[in-house]
Amino acid sequence: MAGRLDGKVAVITGGGNGLGRASAVRFAEEGAAGIVVADVLEGPALETVALVEAAGGAAVFVPLDATSRVDNEAMVTTAVERFGHIDVLLTAAGVSHGGYRSGDLDASRKRMLDRVDNVTTPWVPFLELSVDEFQAVLDVNLTGTLLAVQAVAAHLVEAERPGSIITVASIMARSDTGPVPYNVSKAGVWMLTKIAARVLAPRRIRVNAIGPGYVSTNMTAALTEMPPELLGPFMAAIPMGRLGEPVEIANTALFLASDESSYFTGELLHPDGGFFTG
Ligand SMILES: NC(=O)c1ccc[n+]([C@@H]2O[C@H](COP(=O)([O-])OP(=O)(O)OC[C@H]3O[C@@H](n4cnc5c(N)ncnc54)[C@H](O)[C@@H]3O)[C@@H](O)[C@H]2O)c1
Repeated sequence: MAGRLDGKVAVITGGGNGLGRASAVRFAEEGAAGIVVADVLEGPALETVALVEAAGGAAVFVPLDATSRVDNEAMVTTAVERFGHIDVLLTAAGVSHGGYRSGDLDASRKRMLDRVDNVTTPWVPFLELSVDEFQAVLDVNLTGTLLAVQAVAAHLVEAERPGSIITVASIMARSDTGPVPYNVSKAGVWMLTKIAARVLAPRRIRVNAIGPGYVSTNMTAALTEMPPELLGPFMAAIPMGRLGEPVEIANTALFLASDESSYFTGELLHPDGGFFTG
């Protein structure tokens, strides 16, 4: 049976965990010819490579610090050397705060408790926000997205090939509750996506964003441990009453990666359990 990505080559930043990993596996299940798993964490990324191979696909790990132009360009070079060309980019590398390390649950728990402490005094974290913290999040989430998009788009323009670029924003791109660096970085990703879509459309390169709601990954693992008086209102804001599963975001990425979305560009899709309609 024909797959929805037959013959396509995809590069996935942040492919070592969560949404990036789920997308790598779904892309392989739908016939992708090759997947580049780029991540700052080698161990989890190699696990993703093994999962892709178990799904019948081919994958290669590329070490990537998303904030480095050199690394992003090397990622593209490796993809082309290994698989011949690139059709799809998914930028899933991201952090919730400076110093975030995917899988360090103890640090995430501590962070969550700090946030809970500030619920009744929201001006305190705002006034105490350091430039270092602000910059660290913008560097990965926003500058990292820009660098990956530039590197892949430069290859597509040079090779005169069409392509689909998918960025990962968040419901927080359109929300005024949440940590300033994260929300601002995701609002930036949204605008970057719209501008990139406009300027790259004449070259047959589509650029769309996914704005997930809360999804069960390392990034949100500590959330569900909040005290009931905070977890209750939090869950009430999600009309479907549950967190999303990574595969539900991967299926959105799959649609945007495939030719089924051929008339979409500059769009922000929200798989979010109805968050905006609640
Ligand atoms: N989980 C959610 O609820 C949710 C909701 C909306 C948006 N998002 C966004 O989705 C994306 C993926 O998040 P996730 O939930 O899968 O988290 P995750 O922690 O499971 O995965 C993030 C991946 O990005 C990698 N990464 C982090 N910094 C990097 C860097 N400098 N260079 C290269 N790789 C780096 C991590 O190693 C990890 O493998 C992020 O941009 C996140 O902001 C997540």
